[in-house]
This record gives sequence, C-alpha cells and structure tokens, in this order.
Amino acid sequence: MSNTTEQIRRTELGTGGPLVGIQGFGAMGISAAYGETDTAAARDTLEATVEAGVTLIDTADMYGAGANEEFLAPFVAAHRDEITLATKFGFEYRADDPSYRAIRNDPGYIRKAVEASLRRLGTDVIDLYYMHRRNPEVPLAESVGAMADLVREGKVKYLGLSEVTGAELREAHAVHPITALQTEWSVFSRDVERSAVGAAAELGVAFVPYSPLGRGFLTGAFADAHKDLSGGDFRQLLPRFTGDNARANAALLAPLHRIAAERGATTAQIALAWVQQRAEVHGLTVVPIPGTRKRARLLENAAATRITLTAGELALLEPIAGRVAGERYADMSLTSAAREM
Ligand SMILES: NC(=O)c1ccc[n+]([C@@H]2O[C@H](COP(=O)([O-])OP(=O)(O)OC[C@H]3O[C@@H](n4cnc5c(N)ncnc54)[C@H](OP(=O)(O)O)[C@@H]3O)[C@@H](O)[C@H]2O)c1
Repeated sequence: MSNTTEQIRRTELGTGGPLVGIQGFGAMGISAAYGETDTAAARDTLEATVEAGVTLIDTADMYGAGANEEFLAPFVAAHRDEITLATKFGFEYRADDPSYRAIRNDPGYIRKAVEASLRRLGTDVIDLYYMHRRNPEVPLAESVGAMADLVREGKVKYLGLSEVTGAELREAHAVHPITALQTEWSVFSRDVERSAVGAAAELGVAFVPYSPLGRGFLTGAFADAHKDLSGGDFRQLLPRFTGDNARANAALLAPLHRIAAERGATTAQIALAWVQQRAEVHGLTVVPIPGTRKRARLLENAAATRITLTAGELALLEPIAGRVAGERYADMSLTSAAREM
C-alpha cells in the first residue's frame, strides 16, 4: 500500500454538515497523554494533514490544559479556510493543579469555555464544538440550549457530543441538530454499537470514532506495555495496557497481522479500514480521527482510506472485541457505556 499525498475522498459530516476528508486528525497526543513530543515533527505532521486532504482537526480545551489549542493556533491561522476545526469543553481543569478534574455542562461554564478556546485557537469561530463528557446532573436541554445560543451568536458553526448514549443523542438532537457524535470505536472497542451508532445513523449524525487505533495498541506496538511505555504515558493507567491483559490482547492481533501481511499493508491501516467498513454496515458516515506526531504515519493512515476489506477478512476480525481483556478506561463512570448498563 503506497503512502502518497494524493488527497483522500470527502464526505458531508452529518446531514447538512461541512465537507471533510473521510479521515480526520486527532491532535491530543501532541500535548498530552502519550509522552514526549518532538514539536518540529508534530508541526510538520500538521502540515501533512491538509496536503493529504485530512481536514477535520480535533482538539479539546483540556488537552495539555489549553496547550494543545495554543499549539494549533499558527496552523489554524495559516489554513483557516482549508480545515474544519473541532474543539471541546466539559472537563474543567486547573493548570496549577493537575489532580483537579470536574465535569461541567452548565451554561455559565460553557460560555466562559468557548471564549477561552477561541482566544487560544486565535480564531473568531469554532467549526464544531463538542460537549466532551456528560454530567447527568445538568439537564441536557440546558447544555445543548446554551450551545445552540453560541451557534446563533456566530461563535460556533456546528454542535457535537462525546460519549453519550443513543437516548441522550436523540434528546439533544431534538433541542438543536447535532452534527457529530465522537466516542471510542475500533476493532477493540465496540460498546457504541449497542445504541449510539444506531441512533446516529437514524438521525443523520456523523460518527467520529476516537482512538480508532486503540490508542496505538492496534498498531502492534505494545506486546508488554509495562516495558514499552515511558513514565509520563497515560496508557500505563489503562487496564488494557497493563500486565497480563496487554500480553493477552497483543495475541488477539494475529488476524490483523495476517491480513496486513497478505495485503502489504500495516496493522494500523487494517484497523482504520475496519472502522470505515463497520460504519457502512450500520449505514452511517464515519470520520475517524487517528492521532500521530509523525508525517509518515499520517500518510500511512490516510492511505488506509483506499483499502476495502473482504467479507472473509471482516469475519476474521469480528470476534476480537468480545475477547479483549480489560476496560477502555480504569474508571468507566464517565463513559456512555456506563449509562447503558
Ligand atoms: N472525545 C474523547 O473523549 C477523546 C478521547 C481520546 C482521544 N480523543 C481524540 O481522538 C484522537 C485519536 O485518539 P488517540 O490519539 O487517543 O488514539 P489513536 O489514534 O487510536 O492512537 C494514537 C497512537 O497511535 C500511534 N500511531 C498513530 N498512527 C500510527 C501508525 N500508523 N503506526 C504506528 N503507530 C501509530 C501514535 O503515536 P505517534 O503520535 O508517536 O505517532 C499514538 O501513540 C485524539 O488525538 C483526540 O483528538 C478524544
């Protein structure tokens, strides 16, 4: 599989949404979660996104406590009309106290959060504004109502939600059209297929799968995460990456390795192709947002949009998710899956 800079195909991000490349880009790892970043290489990777037609650029206010949005600002200034810029609010953080964390969905907080994101990103409008996590103590109508006010005021163009159930998506969509739902979805993580995916398909909401490479696990890079991960890496806290689970989960990748070898592709590319095709089964638009800080990997991931897996290959991958050892977070209480039990 060649990794050319030929532009990837485009799609409408949800009914009436913006036109974006069918694969987007997750910027989180540049400033948070996955250890040290070579910032020059990360800037070069950002440039490669637009060259490859990867136009949906994803960040959040809490990634690096505002640092990720600030890092993106020069890129946003240089490419404002070529990209669809998505950011999120909801995790209240304090730069001087990394242990502090609260989920805030109240209108007063949303209003302050949007102004801070606009300032850090150096733009006067956010294309897609997500509620990052749901706080069930705040009525959804209040939060989405406040987000809809931002659309009317021209600060935001489209609305998104992250980690909500199918029922919550329907409730929110009745208040104001929701353009995109962003939740983890990959060969390893399929709890969204319980209710969220079906609701999104029915409502014409695009699905934006986050961590489509299983936070890197599906690239085959982690046989023994205890040894493979450095001190500051958030994945050390994730049950799937720890001890016996990591070793058992690495063994589950055998069909991905086999398909990749037969096609002259990488396991990352097979994992990304799986998400695109699984969405077709459900009849919905997906724009996965793999994250990388390396130009070559960005191009490798974009090239995966040209792979179509056969029915036989899909069947080989089908049983994997049901066998994964360990949850996708140590604390699942903030996920949509927790509210579906
Ligand atoms: N809404 C939410 O709650 C939420 C949660 C998590 C993430 N997200 C969003 O989703 C985006 C993507 O998720 P993610 O970054 O967690 O996980 P991911 O995209 O599944 O995997 C990222 C990891 O894979 C590595 N990688 C990427 N392409 C590769 C390739 N071709 N070969 C080998 N390794 C490769 C990256 O390393 P290098 O960087 O070193 O290449 C990084 O360690 C984030 O950036 C963020 O924007 C949203």
